[in-house]
Amino acid sequence: MDESDVAGDLESVLLSEEQLGRRLDEIAEQIDRDYAGQDLLLVGVLKGAVMVMADLARRLGHPVEMDWMAVSSYGSGTKSSGVVRILKDLDADLTGRNVLIVEDIIDSGLTLSWLLSNLRSRGPASVEIAAMLRKPDAAKTDVDVRYVGFDIPNEFVVGYGLDYAEKYRNLPFVATLAAHVYSV
Ligand code: XMP
Ligand code: MG
Repeated sequence: MDESDVAGDLESVLLSEEQLGRRLDEIAEQIDRDYAGQDLLLVGVLKGAVMVMADLARRLGHPVEMDWMAVSSYGSGTKSSGVVRILKDLDADLTGRNVLIVEDIIDSGLTLSWLLSNLRSRGPASVEIAAMLRKPDAAKTDVDVRYVGFDIPNEFVVGYGLDYAEKYRNLPFVATLAAHVYSV
């Protein structure tokens, strides 16, 4: 799928496929350095992190384990409340493991901060976060994100795993939506 397939739906492309790929090259190199010779378990947060997980994991220079979790944050409208429910838990036992949470986007940071303390309570050796995108509000929370792809403006974005009403996840780039999409 490319831009021409959804041209009328998009306002602008924020990050191209090439930009995302180049940044992931850098982050993968960093992760390889930081975890050299160590066990690593990547935890992807469904569904948004599917793309970044697949692209990041393939760039790593050593074998890692991958597991998935699905959570939903209750809240009014598009803002998360920090009250999180586990829809699908991990298969892996985290005891003594080095865990790296892989996320698509951090907005308020409430979901991640909940997830962080939840996973930390399971006896891992370490828990760190890699997020492809981060919005300005997230920078104000005390969630310590070890690897960040891009800081982006405070706009709703789609593509590269991110959806609007479950659509646009399969765009290979990150874009903002045209106003008419929201109003139908
Ligand atoms: P918080 O605010 O807890 O929420 O950091 C993070 C989750 O909210 C969703 N989210 C978005 N989804 N475009 C999306 O498609 C966006 O611009 C956006 N901002 C936040 C997302 O599910 C993320 O995990
Ligand atoms: Mg979503």
